[in-house]
Amino acid sequence: MAEKPRILTFLASGEARLLVGMLLSAHYTVSHAGANSSLLETVRAHAPEMILVDMELPGTSGLEVVCRIRRDPLYRDLIIVGLGALEAGGMDKVALVAGCTGFLAYPLQPEPFLNRIRGFFQGERQELELKEHLQYYRLFSEILIEKLETRLDALERKTQVLEKERERQDNLTLQILSSLVNLIEAKDPYLRGHSARVTRYALALGRRIGLHQEDQDTLRRAALLHDIGKISIDLREINKPGPLSEEEWAIIRQHPDTGHKILSPIHFLQDEALVTLYHHTRHEAYGGHPEIPPRLRTLTRILTIVDSYDAMTTRRPYNNPLSQAEAVAELRRCAGTQFDPKLVEPFVEALEELEPLEGREEEGRRE
Ligand SMILES: [Fe+2]
Ligand SMILES: [Fe+2]
Repeated sequence: MAEKPRILTFLASGEARLLVGMLLSAHYTVSHAGANSSLLETVRAHAPEMILVDMELPGTSGLEVVCRIRRDPLYRDLIIVGLGALEAGGMDKVALVAGCTGFLAYPLQPEPFLNRIRGFFQGERQELELKEHLQYYRLFSEILIEKLETRLDALERKTQVLEKERERQDNLTLQILSSLVNLIEAKDPYLRGHSARVTRYALALGRRIGLHQEDQDTLRRAALLHDIGKISIDLREINKPGPLSEEEWAIIRQHPDTGHKILSPIHFLQDEALVTLYHHTRHEAYGGHPEIPPRLRTLTRILTIVDSYDAMTTRRPYNNPLSQAEAVAELRRCAGTQFDPKLVEPFVEALEELEPLEGREEEGRRE
């Protein structure tokens, strides 16, 4: 007995698949493509002699299915029959424009449906007049564009959801790092509140010189996290009475590098990691660091000034804090060597605008 001709269907519903299967299976071998199957792979796997395509497929469009199959030179002459509702204004003609051999309208009547299928197998083709072709080509393009727009909208919504989730995760990471900084500071009476004060001073100076919002945001995060590398310092050793040994200073000097190692693997803290790495760099030494990007130089120099100011005005184990006036005099004295001279005066002005902090004389730290 001769093998029955193979028909592959792309149908929108289980009911349609059941109906078509019942109507055709006596004369044809009918297979149905799954909703998520890869189109051309499925066609290749089944090697059908005819394809039946619903014009309205969920998630895609029958027109796209037809266009994609027809684009493959292997299937230029394959019989493709579109199915759809006639009341969908001109869909039968649009299906022909897309490349269908013919179009059959729902509801399917058993006898006429079988006859038409047989006819297509015998070489029947529905043709459009050139005028009609041109007329429906426009409708065809519009339908495809509309489908594309719907898909782009869905993609955009998905991207927004992903962006929100990423933002949520970034905030969580930042919160965890801030908690770590608080923990380091809580263990050291000379460090307590340092990062929060440095952040406050840095933002005041940033506002004074008119930094734009993006730089202010980077500065805020960098100021908050700049001493995170102190996690590797044994504070009991460092805070013991008396001067530090050279070895102990060497350990302290490693904290920018340790901070950079902690922050640099975090994708959204790349700039902050660099500002942290260079936050103890002297102004006059920048020439030796061409690797610091220009945008970050200002942020790093701001941090150096406000960090030193906080160190000077805070109690340390080996000396009393300087007054604001004394610390300002020290900043001015070191302008051009340790500090950027263009930033010292704006900082002094910014300081004058800031409310004095409560209980400062009780706090202390060692930088
Ligand atoms: Fe530091
Ligand atoms: Fe610091």
